[in-house]
Amino acid sequence: SDPEREKRFQARIDAEERIEPNDWMPEQYRRTLIRQISQHAHSEIVGMLPEGNWITRAPSLKRKAALLAKVQDEGGHGAYLYAAAETLGAAREDLEDELLSGKAKYSSIFNYPTLSWADIGIIGWLVDGAAIMNQIPLCRCSYGPYARAMIRVCKEESFHQRQGYEIMLALCRGTPEQKAMAQEALNRWWWPVLMMFGPSDKDSQHTETAMRWKIKRFTNDELRQKFIDATVPQGHFLGLTFPDPALTFNETTQHWDFGEIDWTEFKRVIAGDGPCNRQRMKQMRAKHDNNAWVRAAALAYANKRQQRAEA
Ligand code: 3HC
Repeated sequence: SDPEREKRFQARIDAEERIEPNDWMPEQYRRTLIRQISQHAHSEIVGMLPEGNWITRAPSLKRKAALLAKVQDEGGHGAYLYAAAETLGAAREDLEDELLSGKAKYSSIFNYPTLSWADIGIIGWLVDGAAIMNQIPLCRCSYGPYARAMIRVCKEESFHQRQGYEIMLALCRGTPEQKAMAQEALNRWWWPVLMMFGPSDKDSQHTETAMRWKIKRFTNDELRQKFIDATVPQGHFLGLTFPDPALTFNETTQHWDFGEIDWTEFKRVIAGDGPCNRQRMKQMRAKHDNNAWVRAAALAYANKRQQRAEA
């Protein structure tokens, strides 16, 4: 370690300067960014699976087109984020291997099944809503390529969130069966969505450094609270009830108080034992094997172009 350079580095962070790929940075800063950015990218790619599950079963051509566009966007976000991780010297194949070997994580939320069409509305409204809450501050992250990738991603996420909420509105204003389907989906997804923001601050091992290095602008609990405060009124507007009897508005703090999150479920899901982990990893391995020929063709083409250029 180089205390002099680390001091100068921290002074740049405190002065709100952007760190760029060729700047000097502490090894730990580089490593924690590769960890977070690559797992963010994995989340986007794995997230295509539960959503993609309903493309062939969307209730109308309009819904199918919007869902198709959203799933394609998620793939693009993944590509964007892997490229941001590569600026830190990480090789994409290594990142993929870490995901497929179970060494790297992806967001817990994508280990839950999408059982009805209302789940697609919930994913847009709540999962993308939570992702936006988490990604807007990341637009001001101290690492340049990550922050710039987030600006484009946030624009597309707000379309995802709007189309999800519109699906919920249509269901809640529909037949009693449709309203019941929307309520049943909310009952299954509400608590897992709150876990997307990560463990509570007292149990979070990275938050302290992430805040000092301005990778995080808010802690996990702060973002979770902001999300709950923004989302509960939206759910009430839909005429839905949240599956949390302790959810009450606190006039003093002007925030919604909420019940205890089941952290044993959270730990079980991120340890690989959630409802769909094995299925998702099986699909990711199959995708990797099926696409091997595309990687080989792209490499052969690139080598040929390089030989021609050097001839
Ligand atoms: N799912 C899986 N792992 C999680 C998690 C979750 N919901 N929340 C926390 N973790 C993991 C962390 O990765 C860390 O494990 P690691 O050291 O092996 O990486 C451990 O739990 C401790 O958590 P910390 O809070 O200390 O870790 P972080 O400081 O990294 O905070 C985070 C976790 C808030 C998820 C942060 O990494 C982050 O902001 N990541 C970028 C955003 C992101 O990944 N979002 C995924 C949402 S889904 C998405 O964006 C797709 C959208 O289109 C729907």
